Amino acid sequence: MTCHNGLPDFEERSRNKFHSVKTGIDCERCHGPGELHVERKRAGKIIDTSQYADSTIVNPARLTKELQMSLCQRCHLQGNAVLKEGKSWKDFQPGMHLDSIMNVFLPEYKGQEDRFIMASQAERLRESACYTQSDMSCITCHNPHVSVEETSIATFNSKCRNCHNGAGKKSECTEDMATRNKEDDNCTGCHMPKSGSIDIPHVSITDHHIKTRHDKDQENISYTEAQKIQQFVGLKCMTKENPSNYEMAMGYLSFYEEFSKGRYLLDSAKIFIEQRPQGDLVPWLKPIVKYHFLRNDFASIRTYASRVRLDSVQDEWTNYRIGEAYFQAKQYQKALKYYQQAVNKKPFNLAFQNKLGSTYFQLGNYQKAERVFRLILTEDPRQKEAMANLGYLLLRKGRKERASDYFKKTLSLDPDYLQAMFNQAALSLQNKQWEKARTILQNILKKDPGNSKAQQLLQRLDAMERRS
Ligand code: HEC
Ligand code: HEC
Ligand code: HEC
Ligand code: HEC
Ligand code: HEC
Repeated sequence: MTCHNGLPDFEERSRNKFHSVKTGIDCERCHGPGELHVERKRAGKIIDTSQYADSTIVNPARLTKELQMSLCQRCHLQGNAVLKEGKSWKDFQPGMHLDSIMNVFLPEYKGQEDRFIMASQAERLRESACYTQSDMSCITCHNPHVSVEETSIATFNSKCRNCHNGAGKKSECTEDMATRNKEDDNCTGCHMPKSGSIDIPHVSITDHHIKTRHDKDQENISYTEAQKIQQFVGLKCMTKENPSNYEMAMGYLSFYEEFSKGRYLLDSAKIFIEQRPQGDLVPWLKPIVKYHFLRNDFASIRTYASRVRLDSVQDEWTNYRIGEAYFQAKQYQKALKYYQQAVNKKPFNLAFQNKLGSTYFQLGNYQKAERVFRLILTEDPRQKEAMANLGYLLLRKGRKERASDYFKKTLSLDPDYLQAMFNQAALSLQNKQWEKARTILQNILKKDPGNSKAQQLLQRLDAMERRS
C-alpha cells in the first residue's frame, strides 16, 4: 500500500483500515509535503532554482548521495522491511535516512556470491565499482519523470560516457572496438544485461551490478538450483552498517515469520537476544516474547510476563502474544488484561478484538462478548471468526435460528472454515438431529482427515446409537 501508491489515509490504530487510497504514486512521495510550497508560490514568492535552492520543497537532486539512495530505496530495496519502534509505514519523508524509520534485511549466501539472487536494483548497484568509487546514485541515470520505456539506450549510454570519457581517473572500455560495434556499442547491453532474476521466476530485470563481464549462463539459474548450491550464512541489514543486537533480533524474527520457517533463523535471533545487558528485561520484552511465541512456547512467555508489571508492557503485539499465552493455559482473567491493553492501543485491529471477545465469552460475560463481536462485524461484515463466534454465542443463549443463520453465512464466505462447521454440528446435536450432525462431522473429516475432535465426536455418536 505504501510502495505502489501515494500515501493512503490510514487509520493508525488499525492494521489495514484505510479511509481513502490514492490512485498512483504522487509528487509528494519524492518531493515531500507540498503545502508550504504551493502556498508560497500562490503568494508570488518565486525562487530562481537555477541559482538557489527552494527551501519550501525537496528537490531530490540537491540531496546527498546517501539521502537520494534512501529516497529511492524506500520502495526499491527488496527484502524484509522491519519498522523501528513506534514508527509506521507512513513516516518516511524524502530527505530522511531510511534507517530512522525502518531496516531492510536480506539473506546472504556463501559459495555463489555472484549469482543474481536479488531482484533489487539498489542491492546490485551497491556492488558496482561505479557506485562505490563515485557519487553515483539512482538519479545519475534515471529521471523518474520519464519512464525507462521512453528513455533511449543512447541516453543511458551517454550517462556512462559522462564519467568514462577518457578524462580524470575513470577507465575506458578495454573491449576491442569491432566487438563493441557488433552490439552497437551499447554499454548497458554488455555491462548491465537484462537478466532473469532467480528470485522471481519469469521476470526479467536489468542487472544493476555494473561490471566488466557478465556470464549470463552462470547468473541465470533457477531459484531451486540456487538453493541447492548456496549456503545461507546470515541476514544482512541493507539499511545500516552496524545494526544493534536488538535490530538484528527483530530482523531474524520477522524473516522467520514472513519468509522462511528455518529453525536456524530462530536460533540466530536467540543469540542476539541473549546478548542483552543483564536484567534488561522490559526494553527487550518484545523480541523475547515474539521469539517464544514463534516457537509456540507459551509457558516461557507466561514466566517472562510474570516478571514484569502489566502496565510496563507497551507494545500491542507483545500484549496480544502474552494474552494468547494465558488464553492457551485457560487463565482467562490474566489473558483478558493483556488483550484489553492490546485493544486499547489498536481498537481497529479486529484480530485483537476477536480474542478479547472470545475471552469475555470464556469468562461467561456474554453481554460484553456479544458487543465486541458485533463491533467487529460493523467494521468488517465479512470477518468470519467474529461471525462464527457470534453465532456460537447466540446458540448458547438459545437463539438457535439466528445462530444457524450466522453459521451459514460464515460458511458461504469460507466453505472450509472448520470452526463454523463444528458450530453447525453443535447446533444439530442440540436439536438432536443426529444424522445431520454425523454428516457435518464426516464432511469435516473429508476436509481434514486427521481431525481428532471430529473423530471423537463421531465415536460418541456411534456409541450413543449402539446404546439406543
Ligand atoms: C519517483 C520520484 C519522483 C516523483 C514521483 C516526482 N518527482 Fe519530481 N523529481 C524527482 C527527481 C529525482 C528530481 C531531480 C531530477 C534531476 O534533476 O536529475 C525531480 C525534479 C523535479 C523538478 C525540478 C526541480 C528543479 O528545481 O529543478 C520539478 C519541478 C518536479 N520534480 C516536479 C514534480 C511534480 C510536479 C511531480 C508530480 C506530478 C513530481 N515531480 C513527481 C523525483 C520525482
Ligand atoms: C513510493 C514508492 C517509490 C519511490 C519513492 C520510488 N519509486 Fe520507482 N517505482 C515504484 C514502483 C511501485 C514502480 C513500478 C511501477 C510499475 O510497475 O509500472 C517503480 C518503477 C520505477 C522505475 C521503472 C519504471 C519506469 O517506467 O521507469 C524506475 C526506473 C524507478 N522506479 C526509479 C526510481 C527512482 C530513481 C527513485 C528515487 C528518486 C524512485 N523510483 C522512487 C515505486 C517508487
Ligand atoms: C548506471 C546507470 C543506472 C543507475 C545508476 C541505475 N539504473 Fe536503473 N536502469 C538502468 C538501465 C540501463 C535500465 C534498463 C533500461 C531499459 O530497459 O531500457 C534500468 C532499469 C531500471 C528499472 C526498470 C526495471 C528493470 O530492472 O529493468 C528500475 C525499477 C530501476 N532501473 C531502478 C533503479 C534504482 C532504484 C536505482 C538506484 C538504486 C537505479 N535504477 C540506478 C540504469 C541505471
Ligand atoms: C558517476 C560516474 C560514473 C558513471 C555515470 C558510470 N561509471 Fe562506471 N565506473 C565509475 C568509477 C569511478 C569506476 C571505478 C574506477 C574505474 O574503473 O574507472 C567505474 C568502473 C566501471 C567498470 C569497471 C568495473 C570493474 O569491476 O572493474 C565498468 C565496466 C563500468 N564502470 C561501466 C560503466 C557503464 C556501462 C556505465 C553506464 C551504464 C557506467 N560505468 C557509468 C564511475 C562511473
Ligand atoms: C560488446 C560488449 C561491450 C560493449 C558494447 C561495451 N563494453 Fe565495456 N567492456 C566489455 C568487456 C568484455 C570488458 C572487459 C575487457 C577486458 O577484459 O579487457 C569491458 C571493459 C570495460 C571497462 C573496464 C575497463 C578497465 O580498465 O577495467 C569499462 C569502464 C567499460 N568497459 C565501459 C564501457 C562503456 C562506457 C561502454 C559504452 C560506451 C562499453 N564499455 C561498451 C564489453 C563491452
